[in-house]
Amino acid sequence: MMVGTVMYALVLARITALVTHSRVSENVYKSRYDELCQYMRQYRIPGALRERAICHLASRYQGKWFDEKAILMELNEPLRREIISYNCSNLIKKHPVFKDANPLYLLELLDKLEFECYQPGELIIGIGTVGDCMYFIEKGDVEVASPGYTQILSDGSFFGELCVMTDITKRQANVRALTSCRLYSLSISSYEHVSKLFPKAMHGMETQAQQLLQNLGTSIE
Ligand SMILES: *[C@@H]1O[C@H](CO)[C@@H](O)[C@H](O)[C@H]1NC(C)=O
Repeated sequence: MMVGTVMYALVLARITALVTHSRVSENVYKSRYDELCQYMRQYRIPGALRERAICHLASRYQGKWFDEKAILMELNEPLRREIISYNCSNLIKKHPVFKDANPLYLLELLDKLEFECYQPGELIIGIGTVGDCMYFIEKGDVEVASPGYTQILSDGSFFGELCVMTDITKRQANVRALTSCRLYSLSISSYEHVSKLFPKAMHGMETQAQQLLQNLGTSIE
């Protein structure tokens, strides 16, 4: 009888541990979420802004929070890169820049991309601010607007490349999310790293950037 009770307790403890364990990422998410709410309450952040921040967290992490960098660092390089490539397969399918790329260049580039989410209406880039990265749209629509020029870009396009590929340091347009957007950003330093390794690979994008620069002509300060 005693043995049965102990066994039962042990099994129960094991099951509880398993269940708790299987919810690690949900629990971490929940505590991140609570922390954000407490933080915003503490600093009396206005209600509308609070809502947007909560919305961002929900769409960025979808209820589970992983320390992604640490998790991927546990693996070896080929595994890590294979996982990242698989994770970016939607992006690769949609972008001509990636679709026909040399696989070695592609791995190097994907490794440097950072995933970002934006809600409808959010300003992704503000005209006149200093730009330190460019963006690839995996999913969503954005509006590019500068005085006398508007354009809508969607899945498979990129923007913000002038600050990365030319001498221009300030953003030349506002870019706003029209729908909820899933983007990947590439910083100037990552771009320089990759283009040093694969000087020809980015040629198409660079030509496009130079063309855009010419079209903008004298309006650039
Ligand atoms: C993989 O994609 C998810 C979104 O689908 C994103 O949250 C995550 O950061 C991406 N990871 C990498 C390494 O690109």
